[in-house]
Amino acid sequence: MLGRSGPHPNPVPEGEGITSPPGPLSVDGDDVVQGLVPCWAGRGEATGTNGRATAFLKQELAALGEKGLRRSLRPLDTAPGPWVTMDGKRVLLLCSNDYLDLASHPSVKAAAQAAIETWGCGAGSARLIAGSLEPHRTLEERLARFLGTEAALLFGSGYMANLGAISALAGPGDAIFSDQFNHASIVDGCRLSGARVHVYPHRDVEALEAMLGRAEAFRRRLIVTEGLFSMEGDLAPLHELACLAVRYEALFMVDDAHGIGTLGEEGRGALEHLGLETGVHILVGTLGKALGSGGAFVAGSLELVDFLVNRARPFIFSTALAPSLAAAATAALEIVQQELWRRHDLLSSASYLKKGLIELGFKVLGEGTAIVPVIIGDPARTMEMSRLLLEEGIFVQGLRPPTVPPGACRLRCSLMATHTREDLDMALDVFQRVGKGLGVIS
Ligand SMILES: Cc1ncc(COP(=O)(O)O)c(C=O)c1O
Repeated sequence: MLGRSGPHPNPVPEGEGITSPPGPLSVDGDDVVQGLVPCWAGRGEATGTNGRATAFLKQELAALGEKGLRRSLRPLDTAPGPWVTMDGKRVLLLCSNDYLDLASHPSVKAAAQAAIETWGCGAGSARLIAGSLEPHRTLEERLARFLGTEAALLFGSGYMANLGAISALAGPGDAIFSDQFNHASIVDGCRLSGARVHVYPHRDVEALEAMLGRAEAFRRRLIVTEGLFSMEGDLAPLHELACLAVRYEALFMVDDAHGIGTLGEEGRGALEHLGLETGVHILVGTLGKALGSGGAFVAGSLELVDFLVNRARPFIFSTALAPSLAAAATAALEIVQQELWRRHDLLSSASYLKKGLIELGFKVLGEGTAIVPVIIGDPARTMEMSRLLLEEGIFVQGLRPPTVPPGACRLRCSLMATHTREDLDMALDVFQRVGKGLGVIS
């Protein structure tokens, strides 16, 4: 019998349970599997990577390679931290989003381990199906209290939160106004919604207002922006956007995946940093970056959360995030609020690195945040610089289209609270040597 390694604890009586269509296929037949003659027998070209149906895989990968845009995974041999081991070599990690170095924090790990003991490894189902577990409810309540919203709702990831929220809140007949540099998950949420999407130039409030002025005929309007832009390291003009939302009766959504935990005196992100405590209807944050765990949330009014429970398909139709991830994020949230030195050191390291790189002659973006993108330009040179940096003991990933606009390929440095001045001086030294060697700086 296929796939059976022991007696079924609750056997299905003869003649009941799964049935199969008449013909050669049945669910319990070794005999049938043995008797199957695949339709491709003798036609090797129809299967595998040489087959006609799959030929595009090789072709498209080759085309990506020719343009210098083919990506591949790099094995990491140790847990993320300021220093990691890659290929047996110890290197400085300068591109993690574990900004506060909480993924390996003893109390965060202990919370996850205790939750596994109590709640098991997986949630077992979507929360509407088989119940809503205590670690999820606790984290939602703590997040809402921390952010000053009425409620919060967990999603499996930030990608799912954006997809779910946007496609629930806007649909055909509605208009979405989205910053040019918004994250792919926002872009995909806009596409999935079926709404008319107006992309406004990065942070250009005037252009956005002109678009809003021409959009009165739409049923609903939704303005969506990142709080702290992940690839630019700059901030959205949140006050101005909130004002436009009021003036044009639009919903206002902020994805602050990179700001939560890293910005603001208390770590409440770009909104706190810019002093905007109200005016945002939908706030998205991830648990997988500064909170060192995994998953994401949407925070807002009780009605918004109730609406998303009923309408956000990635919430309704996907297994809830593991309870241990929720428990880890709850522990991390405590640390975000208690250990202020982490945020302080993170931001002072970022400004030290940025200043040093500018002095060396690099073109650097970002404004007082933990993200320090170094613009290199074309993809080949960017990847070559990333490779040479790694050879010299620094891992910073090169970013190419479609993650960033063509011609603006970059090395996106992101800092961790536990990077030391020594680490950064070493990084500056290596950047100088490699940058000069490649002619990026003189
Ligand atoms: C701005 C922004 N939103 C959403 C996401 C997706 O979050 P997650 O990694 O939890 O899916 C990211 C991930 O990099 C992001 O940068």
